[in-house]
Amino acid sequence: MATPHIEVNDKGLFGKTVLMPGDPLRAKFVAEKYLSDFKLINQVRNMLAYTGYYNGKKITVMGSGMGMPSIGIYSYELFKFYDVENIIRIGSCGAYAPELKLYDVIIADKAYSESTYAEVAFGYPENILSATPDLVRELNASAEKLRIPVTNAIIHSSDVFYRQHGDVFRDVRDKYGCVAVEMESFALFANAKYLGKNAACILTVSDSLVTKEETTAEERQTSFHKMMEIALDAAR
Ligand code: HPA
Repeated sequence: MATPHIEVNDKGLFGKTVLMPGDPLRAKFVAEKYLSDFKLINQVRNMLAYTGYYNGKKITVMGSGMGMPSIGIYSYELFKFYDVENIIRIGSCGAYAPELKLYDVIIADKAYSESTYAEVAFGYPENILSATPDLVRELNASAEKLRIPVTNAIIHSSDVFYRQHGDVFRDVRDKYGCVAVEMESFALFANAKYLGKNAACILTVSDSLVTKEETTAEERQTSFHKMMEIALDAAR
């Protein structure tokens, strides 16, 4: 029962909840730092997946790759073929809102996108899709318990990182209220909606399109503890 992109033959090797950072090396970092008795279960295309235990809960952490086509493939296969119930994306984002600071944590309750992913895949005409409300509530409850301040907001899932006109973000921010940009959640939310599963997205601000501040690649890999602790605590 392996898929074209995941070599796992036994559904039982996955937890019911999968945490998905974009970077597979961040999945390795999370497993080594937070999980006990963890085991590497996927290495196809180096898209590392580890299953282990956090406070007795069986959890998988797996890279999604960058962008909607990549997370679209992996999250679809996890939901559809491996009986995964919940996927929580743990990622970085660029701030559109001037009040957001580097390392602030955002729990996305909605994602706006100009991507055709949802329309082409499932005939969904909407350009705004929601995270699963129960999962968002659980992430908020964990954040409150851990006393970590979070912002609940709509984000922009973009297909484009580099653009000719840097100021285009202001139009999206002002028209749709998006506070930050990343490149995956809209496809993840579309897959969850279609397959009747649960999805959410928690993000750490890694750069600001407003102030042009940014963090280094190394800081991005290691400095996102607050977000990870919320996601691990909320995982069912
Ligand atoms: N754009 C898109 N995705 C991102 C960004 C950005 O500026 N920062 C982190 N993820």
